[in-house]
Amino acid sequence: MIVLIGFMGAGKTTVGRLLAQQLGLCFLDSDQAVEQQAGMTVAELFSSAGEPAFRELEQRVVAELLARPAALLALGGGAVESPSTRRRLAGHLVVYLVVDYSEAQLRVAGDAGRPLLLAGDLRERHDRRLHLYARLASLTVTTTGRPPHDVAGELLGQLRRPPVPGA
Ligand code: S3P
Repeated sequence: MIVLIGFMGAGKTTVGRLLAQQLGLCFLDSDQAVEQQAGMTVAELFSSAGEPAFRELEQRVVAELLARPAALLALGGGAVESPSTRRRLAGHLVVYLVVDYSEAQLRVAGDAGRPLLLAGDLRERHDRRLHLYARLASLTVTTTGRPPHDVAGELLGQLRRPPVPGA
């Protein structure tokens, strides 16, 4: 399984769709799977049941998705805060999409589907996740200032490169 991680607005869904298409893989998205299981949007789940309920469902859904056969999976930006999800990511090819905090903010500004934009601690969440993303990543690519097809193209090249013996 190829798994895309990174903060909100990094381009996980957009780049993920492009890359999955180019690799001939099925595209999976943890937020979409959460919404299907909950029967409501992520924003509705946050407001009706609270963030802890969302995180519990997210963790369960991610475990199910990671157990599926080869696909490309985009994780919600906060999924890596779950220690069990981090353990489950071992053995998968984890791609970290890096984006500058200011550009991420611009990309997602005003999106009512992202309830954390209303939380007062977005910057803290971003900062405390950076080392988690970096630690989990097998591949890292920056998306700041780049169109999604450019990022997908670079990743395609990296993923198709044969492994260096002994590296
Ligand atoms: C979240 C990111 C969102 C979604 C939820 C919480 C987060 O996904 O899972 O709103 O904690 O950063 P994206 O990263 O796809 O926006």
